[in-house]
Amino acid sequence: MTHLQTVFLCLVIMVVKLYAQNGDTTFGIFRQKEYYFSNSFVLNWFKAVELCRARGMFLLSVRNPEEREAVIEYLDSTGYLKTHTKLMVWMSANDLGEEGEFHWASTGERMSYLNWRENEPNNDMAGGTAGEDCAAMEYFEGTGANYNFTFNDRPCTENLLFLCETLPA
Ligand SMILES: *[C@@H]1O[C@H](CO)[C@@H](O)[C@H](O)[C@H]1NC(C)=O
Repeated sequence: MTHLQTVFLCLVIMVVKLYAQNGDTTFGIFRQKEYYFSNSFVLNWFKAVELCRARGMFLLSVRNPEEREAVIEYLDSTGYLKTHTKLMVWMSANDLGEEGEFHWASTGERMSYLNWRENEPNNDMAGGTAGEDCAAMEYFEGTGANYNFTFNDRPCTENLLFLCETLPA
């Protein structure tokens, strides 16, 4: 096959794949990653990690502004924020291993894109002595940049929606 034919074939496969998934709002492909969105049920952070792995995926990582945009684009495609004004989803970032040292459980990388909301992470002890060691991404409509798909540490035992992803090879 010529290079052009190969490129064309890849495009056809991509379009067919996307078309086949049309209508399933829990699944989408954006910029190299495939996503799964638990739009109808919530789990604690540990259970969310397990469920993603059981699907052959990983709990979300958002390691740079491009990955944040890809998540927003994917969530837009699900229509979720047309019917909800608020969103909180677990990501894989946590400081369970060492307080204050957030790492992505999905990749093992230290968190370097610090898209925290103002005054976060605060390891708030209000919810109990365990504090807050797991990070969620939050969007609250009409509250400006501070709640615009920003990060917040929450108690890992809290039940939240979550996103799974595949990681590019
Ligand atoms: C929220 O983020 C989106 C996507 O990055 C951006 O287009 C928008 O301007 C932001 N809104 C605010 C209020 O910061």
